[in-house]
Amino acid sequence: MSQLDVAAIRKDFPIFTRTIRDGKKLVYLDSGATSQKPQSVIDAEVDFYSRSNAAAHRGAHQLAEEATEAVEAAREIVANFLGGESDEIVFTKSATESLNLLAYSYTSLITAEDRIVVTEMEHHANLIPWQQLAQRTGATLSWFEVTPEGRLDLSNIDNVITENTKIVSITHQSNVLGTINPLDAIVARAHEVGAVVILDACQSVPHMPINVTELNIDYLAFSGHKAIGPTGVGVLWGRSELLEMLPPFLFGGSMIETVTMTDATWAPAPRKFEAGVPNMAQIVGLGAALNYLSKIGMNNIHLHEIELGSYLLAQLSAIEGLQVVGPVDMQNRGGTISFTFGDIHPHDLGQYLDAQGIAVRTGHHCAWPLTRKLGVAATTRASLYFYNDKDDVDALVSGIIGAKKYFGRE
Ligand code: ALA
Repeated sequence: MSQLDVAAIRKDFPIFTRTIRDGKKLVYLDSGATSQKPQSVIDAEVDFYSRSNAAAHRGAHQLAEEATEAVEAAREIVANFLGGESDEIVFTKSATESLNLLAYSYTSLITAEDRIVVTEMEHHANLIPWQQLAQRTGATLSWFEVTPEGRLDLSNIDNVITENTKIVSITHQSNVLGTINPLDAIVARAHEVGAVVILDACQSVPHMPINVTELNIDYLAFSGHKAIGPTGVGVLWGRSELLEMLPPFLFGGSMIETVTMTDATWAPAPRKFEAGVPNMAQIVGLGAALNYLSKIGMNNIHLHEIELGSYLLAQLSAIEGLQVVGPVDMQNRGGTISFTFGDIHPHDLGQYLDAQGIAVRTGHHCAWPLTRKLGVAATTRASLYFYNDKDDVDALVSGIIGAKKYFGRE
C-alpha cells in the first residue's frame, strides 16, 4: 500500500483549492504535460524576487552575492538529487533546450560516416534535434522500433547500434506509452562501440529515483516544470570529462575566460554552457521543488504511481471498446496511460471529460511518429502523479463511461 498521505500533500498545492467548470472538483491528470506546484516552490520564486534579486555571477555587492549563492545552492540540490557533481549540472531553459544544446554542440564532432540512434517512442524534443544534426552533418539517423506491446524491440541491437554509432539518445519513460525502457543492454552496447548515451528523463526524473552514476549514462536532460518546479528552467547533466571536451552552443556573457576584439576562450563547464544572466528565480524554485520531492521520497512516489496505475489499468480493461496503448500491466511502466475508445475521437472525449472537471491530454502528445506507428490518429492520455488518488481515477473512469452514453455508443 502507498505510504503517501495524498490529502495532506494536496493541501500543499494551492491549485487544488480551486474548482473548475462551475464548481467541480479539479481532477488533474495531465502531469505528463506539466505538473502542479506546491506553495514552497511558489514562495521560493517570490522570495528570490522579493529579497535577493540581482544578477548572479556578476557584481560585487551583497545582493549579487546572495543571488549567486542561491543559484549555486540549487545546483548542489540538483546534483545530489541525480547522484552527480555540481559542476556537471548545466541550467538551461527547458529539457528541449538541453537536448538542442547537445545536438548543436556535437555538430563539429559528427561526420557523414557516423550514426545517431534514437527510438520510435521519442517525443519531438528528443527526435527533431537529432534529425537536424543528421541533416547538418550527413550522419545516419537510426532507431529502435516499438513492439505492438509498446516495448522497445532490442532483438537487433547490434545492427542498430553499430561500430559507427557516436550518439544514442533515448527516452527513459515514454510520454505516451508509459513504458520504462531497459537501459543496461543499450548502455553496454553503446559504450562497447564508443558512443555516448543521452537519457531523456523528462518523464522519469519527476517520478522515480534516478542515479546517473548507477545508470552509467553520459548525459541526462529533464525539465523543471514536469517535476513540480517552475517553467523556464531545465537541466542538462553531463559527465564532467565530456562537458569539458564539448564546445559551447550559446555565446555571450559569463561563459568566457578571456575576450579580445576577434576571439574568446571559454570558462570551464558548466559555466561555458550558461551564457547570459541565468533564470535565477526559476533555478531557485527548482531547488525547492526537488527538496519537496526528496522529502516525500522518490521511491514512495514511484510506488504510489504503480499502485494507482494498476488500479486505473484494471478499471480501463473492464470498459468495452477501450484499448490501452502500451503495456497493460505496471511491469516496467509508469503512470502515464494512453488509450483509444472505439470511434469516439480523443478530442471529443477530452472535451467531454473537461466538462466534468477532468484534465487529460489528447492528440499525438508531441510524439507523432509513434502515434503513426501505433496506427492511431490520436489517443487520450491520463498521466498520474503523487498528488492524485483513487478518487481521481474513479472520476476519470465514470467520465469515460458517461462519454459512451453521451456520444450514443451504448
Ligand atoms: N512531452 C510533453 C507531454 O508529453 C509535452 O505532454
